[in-house]
Amino acid sequence: MTTNSESWLRFVAKPAVFVACLVPFGLLVKGALDGDLGANPLEHVTHATGDWTLRLLLVTLAMTPLRQLTGSTAWIRLRRMLGLFTFFYATLHFLIWIWLDQELVWGNMVADIAKRPYVTVGFAAWLLLVPLAATSTRGMMRRLGRRWKSLHRAVYAVGVLGVLHYLWLVKADLLEPLIYAGILALLLAVRWRPHLLRLPVRPGRTINVR
Ligand code: HEM
Repeated sequence: MTTNSESWLRFVAKPAVFVACLVPFGLLVKGALDGDLGANPLEHVTHATGDWTLRLLLVTLAMTPLRQLTGSTAWIRLRRMLGLFTFFYATLHFLIWIWLDQELVWGNMVADIAKRPYVTVGFAAWLLLVPLAATSTRGMMRRLGRRWKSLHRAVYAVGVLGVLHYLWLVKADLLEPLIYAGILALLLAVRWRPHLLRLPVRPGRTINVR
């Protein structure tokens, strides 16, 4: 990477992505402070955090195909931040469910996870994200070596579980979860069958994640 593109990444792209990822959270905080979260605030915040978890997860998964398409490793350098923001929104979504929906009653939570399949699937997706977030540092990447890559492939399973969770919980209009399912299917196809989309296959490189 040239010095110019390195500076652009560090001083423009990364701060811009950071601020953009915080916008949905900022809007929720503003809505809460202004008492402007609609007729059903619990539903509003649950849906907004669930939606942003899934959107950011798909954006994170798009980084590897974008590297393949463009040959630039800049995408991979944004991937960790996007992944951590995915975890941030997933945890917010989960905490809202624990605190506002289940009112911190542990017995009810266990019963809900066991009873409602879409909650079981959402919970499994969140659980899978925990080790990924915990091992996202450069130190862990180095320590785990090749195992890091294998572990982080679980992010695709999180995508499948996240889409399944959404498909399972909607009662009528399937359009939005089906759009997410289509995007995920495309990303999975590009990841494992790049030839199908006539993408150039570029060998994986050792990437310095900063
Ligand atoms: C990676 C993890 C997860 C993703 C990607 C995700 C995504 C979503 C999405 C997209 C929605 C629908 C938003 C809408 O209708 O606009 C949603 C709703 C919901 N999620 Fe999750 N979720 C995750 C984890 C969880 C967990 C851990 C729980 C609780 C244990 C949970 C409980 C719920 C509930 C209660 C709803 C609202 C259901 C309703 O409207 O009746 N989710 N989630």
